[in-house]
Amino acid sequence: MWTRCVTTVAQNAIKTGSSRAASSIVSGEPKEPKIVTSEIPGPKSKKLIAELDSVTQSSSVQFFADYEKSLGNYITDVDGNVFLDIFMQISSMPIGYNHPAMLNVFKDEKRLKALVNRPALGSFPGEYWPKKLKDVLLSVSPGLPNVMTMMCGSCSNENAFKCLFMTYMKHQRGENVDFSELEKSSCMVNQPPGAPDLTLLSFHGGFHGRTMGTLSTTHSKAIHKLDVPAFDWPTASFPKYKYPLEEHFKENKAEDDKCLAQVEELIEEYNKKGRPVAGIVVEPIQSEGGDNEASPEFFQKLQRIAKKYGAGLLIDEVQTGGGPTGKMWCHEHFDLETPPDIVTFSKKMITGGFYHNIDQKPAQPYRIYNTWLGDPGKLFLLEAFLDVLKQQNLLDQVNSVGAKLKSGLHDYEKEYPSLLNSVRGRGTFLAVNASTTALRDKLVGNLKKKGILSGGSGDNAIRFRPSLTLQQNHVEIFLDRFGQVLKEVK
Ligand SMILES: Cc1ncc(COP(=O)(O)O)c(C=O)c1O
Repeated sequence: MWTRCVTTVAQNAIKTGSSRAASSIVSGEPKEPKIVTSEIPGPKSKKLIAELDSVTQSSSVQFFADYEKSLGNYITDVDGNVFLDIFMQISSMPIGYNHPAMLNVFKDEKRLKALVNRPALGSFPGEYWPKKLKDVLLSVSPGLPNVMTMMCGSCSNENAFKCLFMTYMKHQRGENVDFSELEKSSCMVNQPPGAPDLTLLSFHGGFHGRTMGTLSTTHSKAIHKLDVPAFDWPTASFPKYKYPLEEHFKENKAEDDKCLAQVEELIEEYNKKGRPVAGIVVEPIQSEGGDNEASPEFFQKLQRIAKKYGAGLLIDEVQTGGGPTGKMWCHEHFDLETPPDIVTFSKKMITGGFYHNIDQKPAQPYRIYNTWLGDPGKLFLLEAFLDVLKQQNLLDQVNSVGAKLKSGLHDYEKEYPSLLNSVRGRGTFLAVNASTTALRDKLVGNLKKKGILSGGSGDNAIRFRPSLTLQQNHVEIFLDRFGQVLKEVK
C-alpha cells in the first residue's frame, strides 16, 4: 500500500532520519536544478497529460511529478527534470518532499491503524483524539481555545461561515432561547426567518475558496466564479499600497482610511436593508489575488469595526498560516487587541480546520458536521511537521532566509526598474510585481526553463511560496537564475 511506494531516495531519507534528529535539509537533496528536456512539459509528461485529458479536464497540469525522486526543496518530473521548488504545491508542503520525519509517521503501527480505520470523527473518534487535538493543534493556536478539523481550505471556510451566521442569530435570539416552530418549518424551504437573509462582508481581490458559499466571498478571478449563482453580499475595497512603503506612508494610510470607511458604509447600508452583516472575512495577505498586504493598523481598525457592529471577524490563514511569514500566523504580526473570532487554516497545516472562540461554538450537535471531519492521519503528519519546526527553529530560518531573498529582490528591482516593482511580503512569503501580466508570465515561464518552479498571483505578481526548509544556498541559486532571466528579457 502506501509504504510500498516508498523506494530508493525516500528509503534513504527514512534511514537518515531515524539515525539522527531531522535536519531542515534532507540528506541527498540535489545540489542544483537540472533541466534535461528541450520543452517543459517533456515528452513523458505530454503523453500522460493526453491520457489524463481523456478522462478529466487537465489543462491546468504543468507536468507530472516523480514523487519517489523528489526530495527536500527539489521536485523531479517524470522526464527527469529537477526543479528548485519555490511554489511547493501551491504553498502547501511545509518541509519539502520526502522529509524523513514525515516518512516515519506511518511506520508506527498505532498511527497506521488510525489512518486505515478512518473514523467519522464527529461520532466515533479514537481514544487518542482529544489529546492529539490539544497537543498538536492547540499547541499552535493563535490564542483561541477551540478547534474543528476539516478536509481542505474551502470547507474550513464554508463551515466557519456557518458558525458566524449561527453565532449572530444566537445573539439576536438570546443565549438559551430555543428555535421557534416557524424558524424550523421555514428553513426547510430556504425561507426566513429560519434561513435568515444574513450577509458576510469580504474584499475585492480576496480568495476564500471555490465551494458554493465561499465563492461568494472570492473575488480574485472571474474564471473561478462564472456561471455559478452567488449571494449578493457586500464587497469592500482592500488597500492597494504604493511601494516602497517607507516612502508612501501618507498615501497608504489614506488608502487604509478609505477602505475602512467603505467597510463601515457597507455594513450600515446592508444592516439598514434588513440584510445584516454577520461577519467580516479577510485574508491577512491577499494571496491568490496578488499578494496584497494591509497594515497592522488596518487590521486593528477592522477588528474594532467588526466588534462595533456585532459582526464576527474571520481571518483566513489558509495560505499564510503555518509559518511562512516568519510567525506561525500572519495576523500575529498585527498586534490585535484580542484574537480574531475565527482563524481558518489548511495547506501548510496539512489538515484543514478552524480555531474559534467559545462564542462561536454551536450549542447543538450536527450543526457543524460531516462524515469525516478531517482525517487523523493528517494530524499525525502535522505533529511531525511541528516537531521539526520547533526542533529546527524553522521560523527563525524563514525570517533570515526571507530577509536575504527580499534584499536580492530589492536589488533587482533597482537594477531593472522598468521590469520589476513593489517587492513586498513577510518571511519567505514574498512577491514582486512585473510591469505587465505578459512579462510576469514570461518570467515565470523562463524561470521554469532554468529549473526554478515559481508561481504567479493576481495580474502581475510573482509569488514566493517555498517550504519552511528553504535555505540561504537555495536563495543564491534562485537569485542567480532570476538574474539570468531578467538579463535575457530586458
Ligand atoms: C486564502 C485561501 N483561502 C482558501 C483557499 C481554499 O483552499 P482549498 O484550495 O484547500 O480549498 C485558498 C486556496 O488557495 C486560499 O489561498
